[in-house]
Amino acid sequence: MLQSQNSPHRTTAAPNAPIGVFDSGVGGLSILQALQLQLPNESFVYLADSGFAPYGERDEAFVLQRAKHVLHILLGQHHIKAFVLACNTATALAIHVLRQEFVQLPIFGVEPAIKPAALQTRTRRVGVMATAGTLGSAKFQELHRSLQDQAEFVLQACDGLADAIEQQWQHGDSSEVLALCRKHLGAMGEFGKEAHQMDTVVLGCTHYPFAKPLIQSAVGPHVSLLDTGDPVARRVSQVLHDKQLLAGPEYPASLQLLATGETSNLQTAVRVWLHQSLPVVCV
Ligand code: DGL
Repeated sequence: MLQSQNSPHRTTAAPNAPIGVFDSGVGGLSILQALQLQLPNESFVYLADSGFAPYGERDEAFVLQRAKHVLHILLGQHHIKAFVLACNTATALAIHVLRQEFVQLPIFGVEPAIKPAALQTRTRRVGVMATAGTLGSAKFQELHRSLQDQAEFVLQACDGLADAIEQQWQHGDSSEVLALCRKHLGAMGEFGKEAHQMDTVVLGCTHYPFAKPLIQSAVGPHVSLLDTGDPVARRVSQVLHDKQLLAGPEYPASLQLLATGETSNLQTAVRVWLHQSLPVVCV
């Protein structure tokens, strides 16, 4: 089991140990989907911090304390060999501290794909949808500053959108998600291929890929929507390979689902989006 830097009990992780994946709720499933495709032999433990979601409008101390708590559960009870913060907000506010405290553990995060967006935009205008926590973080602001001469980024804090995507299962319809997409995109400006329009939109919260059809229909078919699932999965695969921590085909791959609060949203989302019927354990 991998331990905190200060722990006296350091041991080495086993290649057949699971990879821990974490988000405030169901959004991280968009990253898990890419991880399962890229790493079909791996076992995963997915934890949704549903008892304390959403994170997007919470402060740094709160998100950091939750991320540490989740990591302790995944290390202590599931002996994970790597940790993926499948949440832009938690990455922006907590990953630097976790990496300092858990030096032996490979820790991966996600961040809004504004670098690839700057490379591919032709109109040099890019829309960025993310939580207020992500956009307000020092980590994002530094990334934004480093790319400011390459494109103009229109930043939109999409308050309420992640939560509406989370809750749509309980309401049984997506009208709230649609209304919030229209409201936030409407506040950003014009989308399209003309010089003054945004031709690229970054989905900077892992919940938003699950609203992709609604967002695409609101911005039109010629606008590219960028998320981060595939690049993150490739990076995890590369690092685990280099550390000789990849599971071989001799181990049966599995997926365990955990939630700190409400469990039915996660169970339904996994069935609908990942086509897997699994129980969710409350932790
Ligand atoms: N899915 C998360 C993100 O990528 C957080 C959403 C939330 O809890 O507000 O930012």
